Amino acid sequence: MKANIGITENDLREVSLLLNKLLADETVLYIKTRNYHWNIEGDNFIEMHTFYENQYKQLEEIIDEVAERIRFLGHYAEGRLKDFLKLTHLQEQDYTSDQKVQLANLLIDHESIIVSIRKEINAVNDKFHDAGTTDFITGIMTQHEKMAWFIRSYLK
Ligand SMILES: [Fe+2]
Repeated sequence: MKANIGITENDLREVSLLLNKLLADETVLYIKTRNYHWNIEGDNFIEMHTFYENQYKQLEEIIDEVAERIRFLGHYAEGRLKDFLKLTHLQEQDYTSDQKVQLANLLIDHESIIVSIRKEINAVNDKFHDAGTTDFITGIMTQHEKMAWFIRSYLK
């Protein structure tokens, strides 16, 4: 059934596509963070292993919320890896167990998601008239700002 929530069909479709792109970004970043949790090496192994675990758990929650919001809007959430790779704007790098490289890669992704959400906030609100999604993605942006700060604090 269509969602009759005061937003046109076209706007619901546009916002759902934006959210599916965000879902793809979050999924790629989740997998990358989880891989670093597995492959990190160094004399602070347990600290970094746990640090990455805390971050991928936050991303896992974000992923679920983004997918469910797409359903609130009456559309289907993407769920195939090939679709995520088509939709994401993030890059996958070579494998590394080096902490500095791992953190630098993650920081690029978090900051890139922050910049992309910040651009979408205006479109979602002014062009597609979806105040709920505007508020929702603003909250996600804030979570990434905090995760990015944690990562940046290791890189000074
Ligand atoms: Fe684990």
